[in-house]
Amino acid sequence: MKNLPDLTKIDFNDEDSNTSKNPTFDAVLAARLSRRGLLRGGVGSAGTALLGGLAVVGCGGGGNDNGIPVSPPAPAPAPAPAPVPAPEKLLGFEAVAKSLADAVVVPAGYSFSVLYALGDPLTAGTPAYKNDGTDTAFENRAGDHHDGMEWFGLDASGKASLTSVDRGLLAVNHEATTDEKLSSFFLHAAGGTTTLPRPASEVDKEIAIHGISVVEVKKTADKWATVQDSAFNFRLTALSDIEIAGPARGNALLVTKYSPSGLKTRGTLNNCGTGKTPWGTFLTGEENWFGYFTRSATDDTARGNDKTVTALKRYGSAQGGASRHGWESAGPDDRYARWIISKTGASADGSDDYRNELNGMGYIVEIDPLDKAKSAKKRTALGRFAHESAAFGKPVVGQPLVVYMGDDARNEYTYKFVSTALWSAADANPADRLATGDKYLNDGKLYVAKFNANGTGEWLELSFTNPVIAGYAGYAFADQADVCVNARLAADAVGATKMDRPEWGGVNPANGEIYQTLTNNSNRRVDPTGSSQLAPDSANPRVYTDMKGATAQQGNPNGHLLRMREGSAGGAATSFTWDVYLFGAEAGADKAMINISSLTADQDFSSPDGLVFSPSTGICWIQTDDGAYTDVTNCMMLAALPGQVGDGAAKTLSYTRADSSKLDVTTPVGKAPTADTLKRFLVGPVGCEITGMCETPDGKAIFVNIQHPGESTKQANLADPTLYTSRWPSNAGYGAGSRPRSATIVITKNDGGRVGS
Ligand code: FEO
Ligand code: CA
Ligand code: CA
Ligand code: CA
Repeated sequence: MKNLPDLTKIDFNDEDSNTSKNPTFDAVLAARLSRRGLLRGGVGSAGTALLGGLAVVGCGGGGNDNGIPVSPPAPAPAPAPAPVPAPEKLLGFEAVAKSLADAVVVPAGYSFSVLYALGDPLTAGTPAYKNDGTDTAFENRAGDHHDGMEWFGLDASGKASLTSVDRGLLAVNHEATTDEKLSSFFLHAAGGTTTLPRPASEVDKEIAIHGISVVEVKKTADKWATVQDSAFNFRLTALSDIEIAGPARGNALLVTKYSPSGLKTRGTLNNCGTGKTPWGTFLTGEENWFGYFTRSATDDTARGNDKTVTALKRYGSAQGGASRHGWESAGPDDRYARWIISKTGASADGSDDYRNELNGMGYIVEIDPLDKAKSAKKRTALGRFAHESAAFGKPVVGQPLVVYMGDDARNEYTYKFVSTALWSAADANPADRLATGDKYLNDGKLYVAKFNANGTGEWLELSFTNPVIAGYAGYAFADQADVCVNARLAADAVGATKMDRPEWGGVNPANGEIYQTLTNNSNRRVDPTGSSQLAPDSANPRVYTDMKGATAQQGNPNGHLLRMREGSAGGAATSFTWDVYLFGAEAGADKAMINISSLTADQDFSSPDGLVFSPSTGICWIQTDDGAYTDVTNCMMLAALPGQVGDGAAKTLSYTRADSSKLDVTTPVGKAPTADTLKRFLVGPVGCEITGMCETPDGKAIFVNIQHPGESTKQANLADPTLYTSRWPSNAGYGAGSRPRSATIVITKNDGGRVGS
């Protein structure tokens, strides 16, 4: 989310603490990539059923003859001349126009309905959401700011099913809350307290609306709904007990007053992207967690300016910084005190205070969505940073599993984890899912990416056995647990490439290539100054100015998408090739330096964030979390049929420095999209971000999250709904009150076909 309160100088969602001296690539050789251009054309069967309308909003015409043809359906038997369904054409829908309407807009021939919004009850006894700030019991309600989301099918007996298309669980991240000056203001009747101390009654609600939820959903007579009294439903909040697993379990870095043994911590926080394991569990990434904690203005000295101070600063925690919500101010109870991470105790190991509490956040957390009795586990082997999604490479029997991950902050890195255990097909449906997670996710190699200017790249292992890490002058690592907990510092040591905010990743089911969104970077400059600005390099090649009204937005305001192809060793490879798949841009922008992908008005976008490949159709769904192009359009979701690494050509961007010297940046760029390979599918209501996408296994229903509509509303305007910047989803007929709410929608095609055709 964006537009945060001016509480401190910190943007809690756009952290920027990488001042390491890792190389950039400002002098570049053109590398000719192989041109094995091809357009993937594989698609599946044609849809035939005709569904009743759930129509809410559709726009544009109904043309669907632009796509890729597939084999026709089998002929109907005589005698009845059954209507012959049209062959399915992926991206056959008519592109949705950019929109500033306070509405969800989907293509003609599609319908959506609101399924699951902030506050919706998750137990039989929880009252309906009044949406007026008086609701309580959020441990039994949907949390706020729906983000990443995964589908887990259920059969009729309530067992995990890979084929069920009408009953399942949605596991949903609740990243944050709409706040202004400390308070989550839509959550409280009069807007909440904007000064310290904050009342415990408000703080308890705010803590409870963070975390994740699992909710059963069911289709009855073509209508999707949540099952309020399902025994599967549950929440994890920012206070739930969670186990530490992997190399850091029991390590000195995890010792706290709450867990002197370092075996557990409380809560999962700022949950953004997701993943789904090959054994059927849910992975959630902890993103901008650092801002919820506070450290006294003299804590560096209290710690003796030891290495923990280096680590805290590298993860965004400066001494004296205010916390995002002031939760620490609500009283002496331990559940509030734990948000103060100063060294206050006399112990040597931190077992009498919360000096190590920040080390309990920043992980990929594994949750069994079908068993709420099982404790979730923080998988420390996958590193600690501002996690987004966790995208698995295709599992191959006898090979290690691989998980691709991004660290979303300016100038941070792209990572992968390679398991020590080799994949066994028998683990696809195990009796104990989290024990299977122990097998694959507690032991392995963590790598960080270095992108070379010639379109090659290297995976650099973050191992304590590497003398470059063990002997790093910037931080004295103690062991492999320290390397995992302070992965950013280890990545600094090995010289990883600083990127334009790595967000979600996905693996193309057609060819195994890895896609990564790089949402934007306001710190790129032709003439960088200070330690945080960077010159453009091959993997982050654009620096330009985009105007938003009278405001000049500098750096790389619109973001881009990279993709990688592993070397011959597959997921275990330590080298790869890459190119830039797409550049975000306004359609009217200069095609040489900005709109390099030649996006048209039906395709242009800014700040790609969510990215999900449909397992069913293979469509690459791209979602935006933008603040740069929002004078022209609300955030959106696009459908893409990408080609492959190397299907385009190298391009050189020529810059002139202030001293008149030339800076040429050459970068491999994928083949430009066509009207048949990239189309805008959805635009959301005012102020929202589009995020999270999953689907039923037949691809005929997709679930998408609308996060923080109306977030630019001023708290001072709370009493007057006509001044809300959004009133969605109540203006779409959903729920009580008119305060805007984050929500999950379900989208279907009116002719019963697969979504995206
Ligand atoms: Fe929660 Fe970086 O998107
Ligand atoms: Ca984001
Ligand atoms: Ca603009
Ligand atoms: Ca996001």
